[in-house]
Order: sequence, then C-alpha cells, then structure tokens
Amino acid sequence: MLAGALAAVTVVLGAQPVAAEDDANFKSSARLYDTYCAQCHGVNRNGKGVNTGGLSVQPRDHADPVGMASLPRDEIVRAIRDGGAAVNKSALMPPWSSVFTEEQIQKMADYLGHVCKCTKPN
Ligand code: HEC
Repeated sequence: MLAGALAAVTVVLGAQPVAAEDDANFKSSARLYDTYCAQCHGVNRNGKGVNTGGLSVQPRDHADPVGMASLPRDEIVRAIRDGGAAVNKSALMPPWSSVFTEEQIQKMADYLGHVCKCTKPN
C-alpha cells in the first residue's frame, strides 16, 4: 500500500517538466519557452511537443548534449531570431524577432545551453 503510494509519487515527479526551473537566471527564459516553444520542442525540451504530429521535420531535441553541442551559439541565436530558414534548416521553425527582444533571444540561447548541459563552440 505504502509502496504503491510512493511509486505513484515517483511517477508524478518523474513526469515533471524541466520547466520547473530553480536557477533564477533562467526562470524568465523557461517561462517563455513554455509559452512559445514547448508546443513543438516539448515540455521536457526533448523535441516531442504536442504539436509535432503533422510536422514533416521534427523539432530539435534541446536536451540532447551531443546534438546541441554541434550547433554554434551564433546559429542557435539566428535560428531563434530569424527562423529555421535563415540557417538553412526547416522553415517550420518560426522566427521570433517580432515576439522577443534581442536580450530575450540571447538569454534563450544561454538557457538552451543550460538545458542541454553542453558547452557550445562560439
Ligand atoms: C511550430 C513548431 C516550432 C516552434 C513553436 C518552435 N520551434 Fe524550434 N524548431 C522547430 C523545428 C521543426 C526545428 C528543426 C528544424 C530543422 O532541423 O530543419 C526547430 C529547430 C530549432 C533549433 C535548432 C536550429 C538548428 O540550427 O538546428 C533551435 C535552437 C530552436 N528550434 C529553438 C526554438 C525556440 C527557442 C523556440 C521558442 C521561442 C522554438 N524553437 C519554437 C519547430 C518549432
């Protein structure tokens, strides 16, 4: 009985999105991510958002340290600001320059480095 209850608690905690961001530096970016990015990139930042069923190109897994480390920061910033097409990727990745300030874009790039726990080349 108790074991069952504990298992249920573990399952619920395990399903918690990365969105519960403890680091104060990243709180605002995490909130923006939940609002604008999670539908495609997933609440768990793994590229498996609820809105990916119809997409011919799947969103990037932002939690993947190897895949994300292969992207220079400059490309990540440009993809966020100007959209996938601007970095020769899929136009299904929308541009955010009319939604975010330049500072929010830079902070989002920092946040993605935090999510993948990887250091990106400059
Ligand atoms: C409508 C769905 C959608 C939304 C919303 C979306 N993305 Fe994407 N994103 C994609 C797709 C699809 C790709 C993969 C493009 C490719 O590999 O050709 C992608 C790729 C990326 C990449 C990798 C670009 C590269 O050079 O490989 C980054 C970084 C990114 N998205 C960040 C974000 C951020 C930050 C947000 C929220 C502000 C966001 N995306 C919102 C669909 C989306």
